[in-house]
Amino acid sequence: MNANIMNVDYSTKIPNNVNLGEDRQVLKALEGWHPGYMDWWGDMGPEGFQQSLVYLRTAYSVDPRGWAKFDYVKMPEYRWGILLAPQEENRVIPFGENYGKPSWQEVPGEHRAMLRRLIVIQGDTEPASVEQQRHLGKTAPSLYDLRNLFQVNVEEGRHLWAMVYLLQKYFGRDGREEADELLRRRSGDADSPRMLGAFNEATPDWLSFFMFTYFTDRDGKMQLHSLAQSGFDPLSRTCRFMLTEEAHHMFVGETGISRVVQRTCEAMSAAGISDPTDIAKVRALGVIDLPTIQKKLNLHYTLSLDLFGSEVSTNAANAFNAGIKGRYHETQIRDDHRLQNATYPVLKLVGGEIKRVDEPALTALNMRLRDDYTQDCVKGMLRWNKIISTAGYDFKLTLPNVAFHRAIGEFKDIHATPDGVLIDETTWNKRKGEWLPSTDDGDFIASLMKPVTEAGQFASWIAPPKVGIDNKPGDFEYVKIET
Ligand SMILES: [Fe+2]
Ligand SMILES: [Fe+2]
Repeated sequence: MNANIMNVDYSTKIPNNVNLGEDRQVLKALEGWHPGYMDWWGDMGPEGFQQSLVYLRTAYSVDPRGWAKFDYVKMPEYRWGILLAPQEENRVIPFGENYGKPSWQEVPGEHRAMLRRLIVIQGDTEPASVEQQRHLGKTAPSLYDLRNLFQVNVEEGRHLWAMVYLLQKYFGRDGREEADELLRRRSGDADSPRMLGAFNEATPDWLSFFMFTYFTDRDGKMQLHSLAQSGFDPLSRTCRFMLTEEAHHMFVGETGISRVVQRTCEAMSAAGISDPTDIAKVRALGVIDLPTIQKKLNLHYTLSLDLFGSEVSTNAANAFNAGIKGRYHETQIRDDHRLQNATYPVLKLVGGEIKRVDEPALTALNMRLRDDYTQDCVKGMLRWNKIISTAGYDFKLTLPNVAFHRAIGEFKDIHATPDGVLIDETTWNKRKGEWLPSTDDGDFIASLMKPVTEAGQFASWIAPPKVGIDNKPGDFEYVKIET
């Protein structure tokens, strides 16, 4: 591989490794889109702190050894760039009807609409999460956390750029129109909402932020993995590089929740509390009780499950057959990669009971991806539970049953407990406060959300991280807040 290809071209306004300097038409389209993006960032990006110096990493190359460079940057001056993973020589389409044929460097005409739709949906989630998180800066529990929030935000901004590049380069006029629409929709807006449910929900506090980055960014990870398998090579390469950034977002979620759990356990131990479900006593210590953490988890996990769509879906089958969207780790799966005769077990509601039913594997691809997602979610949970058991408490955080609190798919019209027991509407209304955050829970958490802006200091409800970002010491000033 040519070493120069790995370095970003800073000769234009937009850092990139796609030779934008010589692609005048796309460069012009992107430069035309840039002011609207900056307006959007100003209106809907992080509230405040725009003149603060933030210790951020910027992608200047996709080289695995050195793609991230850390330095103080003002967020509006962040270099949002267009970076694709290096092209693999002789890459073939790894699944579907075109299995084994050379991957496409241009959009295949017959799949154009489907491809554009998938890119737009992915693109829409990126700015949405920035909008959802825009108020969090003013209640950050530390400068370390504040910096992590902003890192996630600027990278979601870059992911929007990544999708906009594909739209503008490969989809002509309608691609440019879609790129403008991505700046027009707003999370939670009644008239012009973002495209997917979970991206229109509020992220009211930092526990929600950590749950979001753990559970909802992980849906993003699964979707990006599936698109990284795409036969449309530019999409594959784009998603592969986005995944390297996405890993940090889930790290923020996993360690964030770990630190909350740890602080709660430490405070309970110090106060001699033996029953972690004694909510009033635990809350009096200024930490978040474990049952409330479980409720937040229930909410964000189930909202994220809905992002996978219906368990049985012909759209998913079509995208797979077409070679547009593959399975998680497609190239590592040992089967025919066509799935014409295969089946997959799907959880369905049969005669009022939750049962596994074999469905054609092609139409069950959403279910399969969701199963892979759930497995991936379990890993962090084991770490959180380890913290709890090490502290000597008999309490386990668990993932609720897939039938619980669903708005999409097989279980959207029924009610179930987190254990998967079907219940009627009256029971649901009476008991849902036991399983999902109530207004009281929200008010309590909100009462803890006081900003801590002194370097090295942390709010009462969260433990410090084990290591700093870029190995910086504990009292490092991650954000130099302007006064
Ligand atoms: Fe993203
Ligand atoms: Fe993300």
